[in-house]
Amino acid sequence: MNSPTSATLRCVVYRSRAAVSFSPSALKMLELLCASRNHTRGVSGRLHYFDGQFVHVLEGPAETVGKLLGVIKDDPRHTGLTILLDRPVSGRAFTL
Ligand SMILES: Cc1cc2nc3c(=O)[nH]c(=O)nc-3n(C[C@H](O)[C@H](O)[C@H](O)COP(=O)(O)O)c2cc1C
Repeated sequence: MNSPTSATLRCVVYRSRAAVSFSPSALKMLELLCASRNHTRGVSGRLHYFDGQFVHVLEGPAETVGKLLGVIKDDPRHTGLTILLDRPVSGRAFTL
């Protein structure tokens, strides 16, 4: 049986609640920061915000996604982070 390696693609979807008020420009800044930093790390996905709630899809090398999730969890700008899906995937749903 193959053991997971850092090359294994992992997809995580979580939801959380904004703990601070996000203006449209603050949201845009967050989206741009995520897109640019995640691209460099080989992580693709999509961050959605609606009515004070985030839904975030992250996909990329398993270890990288795990580390990133640890950083995101500790961000005080949101709370109540709940994992909706966390599994290995054979390919990306989003373009890197
Ligand atoms: C809802 C939410 C989603 C985030 N998603 C990402 C992300 O996908 N990638 C990322 O680099 N930072 C993301 N962040 C920001 C990180 O939590 C963290 O603030 C940032 O990576 C650390 O930046 P620093 O190294 O400049 O302190 C997110 C923050 C929030 C509130």
